[in-house]
Amino acid sequence: MFPETALVTGARGGIGRALVAALEAEGAEVRGLDLADGFDVADWDAWQDIEPAEAVFLNAGVLAAGDGSLADYRRILGVNVDGVVFGLQALAPKMRSGSAFVVTASLAGLIPMPSDPLYTLTKHAVVGYARSQAEVLQPRGIRVNLVNPGIVRTPMTEPAQAELDAAGFPLLEPEAIAQAMLAAARSEETGQAWVCQPGREPLQFRFPNVPGPRVEGAEGMVPQL
Ligand SMILES: NC(=O)c1ccc[n+]([C@@H]2O[C@H](COP(=O)([O-])OP(=O)(O)OC[C@H]3O[C@@H](n4cnc5c(N)ncnc54)[C@H](O)[C@@H]3O)[C@@H](O)[C@H]2O)c1
Repeated sequence: MFPETALVTGARGGIGRALVAALEAEGAEVRGLDLADGFDVADWDAWQDIEPAEAVFLNAGVLAAGDGSLADYRRILGVNVDGVVFGLQALAPKMRSGSAFVVTASLAGLIPMPSDPLYTLTKHAVVGYARSQAEVLQPRGIRVNLVNPGIVRTPMTEPAQAELDAAGFPLLEPEAIAQAMLAAARSEETGQAWVCQPGREPLQFRFPNVPGPRVEGAEGMVPQL
């Protein structure tokens, strides 16, 4: 059974709780990290004491307050970006071949979301970061995948739910995202982003190819970094 051990950030939120329950139902030993229990994913020092697990779910996230303040900007970057970067940087060196990271991004990591540009910034950032780290960690046998859900019925979206329900807009349930996260952790692929939408199985997002240069001798080349 994989994973036998798991670490979940944002474990007390809507998606985090559903994931912990799904993991425990399958017999995994789960450690949850949440601000509600005193662990701040944006605290570099706090990460240094954390032991790794076979599957690490970097899931904590917040929306912006949207007040245009510097504090709001720093807070959302701290949780949504630092919380992923610090977790991966602290744990990857201690992890074994066969283990996996799953990062909870969002559809807002793949498309513009004008209702919350800062949230969109952070989710695009983690998509690029996770896909890059997937290539860095591949030689060590560590996989890094993403889930990119649409709107999920959790405390995060609670203020908008009545309006969305009244408009007939379909919402995802956290249990469905938990299953997608488990599947992403177990996937043999790496660097993939799994889109979750109501009524669909999780779908691997196809990133478009970027045009290469069109100068003599270099036509079609991609950067060799
Ligand atoms: N709900 C949605 O519609 C939706 C859609 C796409 C992606 N997501 C993403 O899914 C993830 C989980 O969201 P959710 O809907 O369960 O939200 P939620 O608000 O229900 O839960 C988030 C959890 O993260 C914790 N948290 C916040 N700041 C933290 C910090 N600094 N350190 C540690 N923990 C912290 C909170 O205490 C809370 O328990 C987030 O990354 C979110 O961006 C949510």
